Amino acid sequence: MTDTDLTLRAREFASKDPFPMKGFGPAEWWVGNAFMTAQALRALLGLEIIGYRGPETGVSDRSSYLLRSDQIQFIVTGAQDGDHEISEHVKLHGPGLRDIGLAVPDARAAYAMALENGATPHRPPEVIENERGRMVIATIKAYGDTVHSLIECEGPDPRFEPLTDTVARSTGLHAIDHVVANVELGKMNEWVEFYERVFAFTMLKHFDDDAISTEYTALMSKVMQGGGGVIKLPINEPAHGKKKSQIEEYLDFYKAPGVQHLALSTDDLQTTIADIHGRGIETIYVPHEYYPEAEQRMPDVDIDWDRIEALSILVDQDDDGYLLQTFTKMLQDRPTVFFEFIERRGATGFGLGNFKALFESIEREQAKRGNL
Ligand code: FE2
Repeated sequence: MTDTDLTLRAREFASKDPFPMKGFGPAEWWVGNAFMTAQALRALLGLEIIGYRGPETGVSDRSSYLLRSDQIQFIVTGAQDGDHEISEHVKLHGPGLRDIGLAVPDARAAYAMALENGATPHRPPEVIENERGRMVIATIKAYGDTVHSLIECEGPDPRFEPLTDTVARSTGLHAIDHVVANVELGKMNEWVEFYERVFAFTMLKHFDDDAISTEYTALMSKVMQGGGGVIKLPINEPAHGKKKSQIEEYLDFYKAPGVQHLALSTDDLQTTIADIHGRGIETIYVPHEYYPEAEQRMPDVDIDWDRIEALSILVDQDDDGYLLQTFTKMLQDRPTVFFEFIERRGATGFGLGNFKALFESIEREQAKRGNL
């Protein structure tokens, strides 16, 4: 295809929507032991292991598992050798989210347009086609060592040999709701501008440090939205507080900007959390005092407050409805990436009313680690 063809295609691609996206694609974790990580995600969160690629399937440098729970797709990958970019990544950052995949209708046009908008290329478009299916994938760089693959794929991922999972028991998780970045002090607006320029995202919400501060620490956050609302990427930066911000703690241990948390949605958070607790995942502790205050703040929310408290679930309301949410404690040795679980009953926000309770809870954990 010539450059002119590609430019025409990019223009056509952008004619209806400034940067069409279909939703989150697979999110790829780079880890020290892909087998054990895949097993843990299956056992603890109920994801099915549906594909494998590695030395046995002709990919000699890595082992990679494809996991799914409804629309959620994770890839977990580990290297076969210590002298490999994945091993270097794990050595520097610990296990982390390397690639936030974005599903697009036309990956070549999306890549061409992203570059035209000033994105830094990582891998040019590649067509992968075999008896399992067809995919076009191209990758650009984002914050820190994080990248975004632009993925065009209908049907199964042709990179993976399919596996049938007869062991996984679903916990009801069905989609990636949002993915949050932590960036360095003073860098939030640069990344806001990056998503505006490269992907034509718009800012959905803005929380300044007055809104999200505790006695000790503060942060600022802007929520970027794209693809007509299917992609939501909040970006946090630390703000000055009396003690070390949790964002600074993340940056100290991840050694770079990166993904702070990944929010997974469910239609029934109470059932999901009761199930996940039974599998051994701990979520943050919410003190009793939160609940009478929350009930008073949201008198029309019709839920079983005693059960919500027993599960340490947070509740918040906005103009469109309410939401239930909670967060895991750390899932790896370093205090870096964690999960949020969220059920939206109309609400489109991110639990602003809970930020204070959430951060105080995170700070209690941070203090236990001696990092506050
Ligand atoms: Fe979140």
